Amino acid sequence: METVLTDSPVDAAARIQQGEIVAFPTETVYGLGADIFNESAVRSIFEAKGRPRDNPLIAHIFSLEQISELTSNVSEVAWNIIHQFFPGPLTVVLPKSVRVPDVASAGLNTIGVRMPLHGLANSFLREAGVPVVAPSANLSGKPSPTTWQAVLEDLNGRIPCILKGEITRFGIESTVVDCTKEIPILLRPGSVTLEQIQDVTGQVEVVSAMDLVVVRSPGLKHRHYSPRANVVAVAWPPDSAPPKSAYIGLTLPQQSASFELTKIVRDPEDYAHELFRFFRDCDAIGIDIIYCQTIPETGVGKAVMDRLRRASEGAKD
Ligand code: TXA
Ligand code: MG
Repeated sequence: METVLTDSPVDAAARIQQGEIVAFPTETVYGLGADIFNESAVRSIFEAKGRPRDNPLIAHIFSLEQISELTSNVSEVAWNIIHQFFPGPLTVVLPKSVRVPDVASAGLNTIGVRMPLHGLANSFLREAGVPVVAPSANLSGKPSPTTWQAVLEDLNGRIPCILKGEITRFGIESTVVDCTKEIPILLRPGSVTLEQIQDVTGQVEVVSAMDLVVVRSPGLKHRHYSPRANVVAVAWPPDSAPPKSAYIGLTLPQQSASFELTKIVRDPEDYAHELFRFFRDCDAIGIDIIYCQTIPETGVGKAVMDRLRRASEGAKD
């Protein structure tokens, strides 16, 4: 299959309507989309990514009116979160309507819904006219793509089309909040922070125990965000650089430590923006070990640390 690159949201949306899958930019990471109501198109997403079938997809909308096509019931707390954070880098998990096919929700009776804050994404979704389910547009297990080049690297020849945009603004995937219970549950930290959600809803449960993760958000148990290289979290840059090593963090390493690749970030937001692209850059030049400086788990720091932890889980050979 030839993978066509396009700048046209109209062309990309026409393909969605024809039952094809299309990669598109958002403010978080690039997504790989299909018409939520077209089961065979939705199935092709799992095939193209090599994604486990038990990992549910997020439905992307351009208008709040589309929520009624997707859900059976939206609680007051869910509306509060939606009104505060849509459009933006946050997904709410809601009870799904019977119209949503099981393949999209991976058999769960809930559906994640998100309205991107991204002009091109919104034009594309508007033209498509249907909610578009989309996971991140990477091969399963790889870091999420923040550029169209990264999408091409993983999915060239496996998908028919990429809608080209700029590098994504936030660089990590959306915050995911389960709003099916009285008290919202943070399933995945992101650029909308726990503190911001607490300001709106008061109480928020935070998932940390693995058993809860498995039950509530199947995707979180799968290996994620991993470059080929080993990722090692460090409090400070190492004094010396082993062969084929790289470093990313806020603190500048000593001059004697000559890493093959170094990225100094300004703050947690910049760290989030750069992390996945840095992982891919490291893999491209054959880095074996990536040192990542740890940061306090407040604000966006919580999301950065979540991604670092996932990337460093289990050493690879
Ligand atoms: O920023 C994002 O969220 C990007 C862009 C493309 O929108 N999408 C994305 O999708 O990161 P994906 O599939 O790579 O990650 C979605 C996460 C998974 O961990 C999945 O398990 C969880 O959200 N999720 C989706 N639907 C869910 C549901 N109904 N209940 C619980 N967790 C859900
Ligand atoms: Mg993903």
